[in-house]
Amino acid sequence: KYEKIWLVFGILSLVIFLSIVGITAFGQGHTPAGGMDTIDPEKVSEIAPFDNPGVKQLDKNTYEVALVAKAFGYEPSEIKVPVGKEIIFTLTSTDVVHSFTIKDTKVNMMVVPGRITHKSYTFDKPGKYLVLCNEYCGTGHHFMSTEIEVY
Ligand code: CUA
Repeated sequence: KYEKIWLVFGILSLVIFLSIVGITAFGQGHTPAGGMDTIDPEKVSEIAPFDNPGVKQLDKNTYEVALVAKAFGYEPSEIKVPVGKEIIFTLTSTDVVHSFTIKDTKVNMMVVPGRITHKSYTFDKPGKYLVLCNEYCGTGHHFMSTEIEVY
């Protein structure tokens, strides 16, 4: 008698377990933006927003800056954003791991091929901000930089 109860209990547990696994897998499969944003590094130039990189105004107070990092620079090289607005930096790399580090700010992003990284930042002072690569990415690493103009 007891064996039968345990057998039923075991099957029930298994069914519940499999349902949870199934729901989790289903959920992840249907939420492309959930968790980690991935991108095919070879198709970066065809996928939004990297098919048209640069500064884009999303709404009254929000801008997105889409940039592609590759040895040894950032595309596009000219970035102009307004002061006091939320700037969402969206980056990916087409080759190796780089970083997007804006000097004297809290922005220090890892830029990984195959992944899309976002970071929101609001500049409180106009001026020119130096951007450097903090991840060793090859012979040109020390020259990898750009500038952001905040107006
Ligand atoms: Cu790119 Cu170091």
